[in-house]
Amino acid sequence: MILIIDFGSQYNQLIARRVREHQVYCQIEPPDIALAKIEALKPEGIILSGGPASIYEKHSPRVDKGIFDLGIPVLGICYGLQFMVDALGGEVIRSKKREYGFAELKVKKAGKLFAGVEKKTRCWMSHGDQIGRLPEGFTITASTENTEVAAAENLKRRFYGLQFHPEVVHTVEGKKVLENFLFGVCKCEKSWTMNAFVRDAIEEIRATVGDKKVIFGISGGVDSSIAAVLLHRAIGKQLTCVFVDNGLLRLGEADKVLALFAKNLKMNIRFAKAGRLFVGRLKGVLDPEKKRKIIGRTFVEVFDREAKKVKGAEFLGQGTLYPDLIESRSAFGGPSAVIKSHHNVGGLPKNMKLKLVEPLKHLFKDEVRLLGKELGLSDDVVWRQPFPGPGLAVRIVGEVTEKRLTILKNADAVLMEEIRAAGQYRKLWQSFAVLLPIKSVGIMGDQRTYENVIVIRAVTSEDAMTADWARLPYDLLSRASNRIINEVRGVNRVVYDISSKPPSTIEWE
Ligand code: XMP
Repeated sequence: MILIIDFGSQYNQLIARRVREHQVYCQIEPPDIALAKIEALKPEGIILSGGPASIYEKHSPRVDKGIFDLGIPVLGICYGLQFMVDALGGEVIRSKKREYGFAELKVKKAGKLFAGVEKKTRCWMSHGDQIGRLPEGFTITASTENTEVAAAENLKRRFYGLQFHPEVVHTVEGKKVLENFLFGVCKCEKSWTMNAFVRDAIEEIRATVGDKKVIFGISGGVDSSIAAVLLHRAIGKQLTCVFVDNGLLRLGEADKVLALFAKNLKMNIRFAKAGRLFVGRLKGVLDPEKKRKIIGRTFVEVFDREAKKVKGAEFLGQGTLYPDLIESRSAFGGPSAVIKSHHNVGGLPKNMKLKLVEPLKHLFKDEVRLLGKELGLSDDVVWRQPFPGPGLAVRIVGEVTEKRLTILKNADAVLMEEIRAAGQYRKLWQSFAVLLPIKSVGIMGDQRTYENVIVIRAVTSEDAMTADWARLPYDLLSRASNRIINEVRGVNRVVYDISSKPPSTIEWE
């Protein structure tokens, strides 16, 4: 395994993903990790990440210098390099100007890290400080026009440093450089496969849970579905899944979930049909935040009631992923952490006194999908687009009523059918219909109509933090619009949302 010390760079998770793409397991840990814990982890190599701090700042993050005496190879990236240089007696100087963006890297000495790398290649820089003097035993291996020490190494002690970021795609040879570190320097083995993960995860779940019962809330989403199937593999009937149908799901969604989990996989499912309760409580409520809060609270209530019926349950399963875990404990969590907790409507009762099992907590989203394939789940489950906890309630602007829900569900179903038929579904981060609380005039046959407006929303995104409106083919938009207006009673106008995030958001509420 490779240990990554998190100095707070926005690219940290990328480093981890790049390492894992090479089928090497890695773990991100905060800088205050104890030296003894590092030794216990027995890493083949340590990567010190970049970070926004300057080594001169009073509270700049630092890891125990003892890591340099363990005989383990170390790769410092950006701030990580500066920390290493400072710790080993070299000098870091403040640059007059920040270097940000592309630079041409000239490799002076291939050494281990640049073996097989082009002599001149583009790299991505993002730093203020730079190296003034290297510690003893180090030599410069690459430079750029503005940065003499763009890369350095101490071959004997197996310490390497890069001022640029090898983990971002803009660094053309970044992948090769990391590969050289993992295999050329650290002698890692390609042992991180989903097959191995499943074996280990099942063992671990069994060891944790023993013969006790586990409750797990499923939503039909990718993470909870895959986590549930993995738990079921490990402990079978000791697992009870709770599925709350809040009446705010897409057309046919509840049936699909039941068909998969209860019928095909023969899992224990407690199905709480609570649409009436949710919609009843949303009556007359127009404010988006109030709607979200009501749905959140009602969910907890219904889930709790169902969970209590599972006698003797001691564990609660959750589909937490690695990014959530890192962000929730990171000292540099930043605004992203806050935005997500706001979204986390499906939060569970704090007073349930259950112990947690989180079998996906070390996986990234793309790995979860691979895991889903490994567990034999269909593309339909594995590649499902994200769906918000408050469901269609945030896609009906204003008051949620049964009538509006029916219109939206039908319009959305037609839209999704067309999007799938056009081969667009997997290209889009999300696509859906939104119902507006206004009516407009139209003409159908010889009749004047006065009906609802449906918005088509389709976006591309990497992580939902930013998103762009999708350039859907005109003929797809045309077909979807025609079909929605013709087939869905109560709609006479369809518009396409061409706003990006920011400044808009993906959902309308
Ligand atoms: P926005 O609308 O803020 O949404 O651009 C970003 C992403 O989060 C999803 N979303 C939610 N997911 N509970 C969730 O589980 C929520 O309350 C929630 N609100 C928004 C949204 O679908 C998009 O993928």
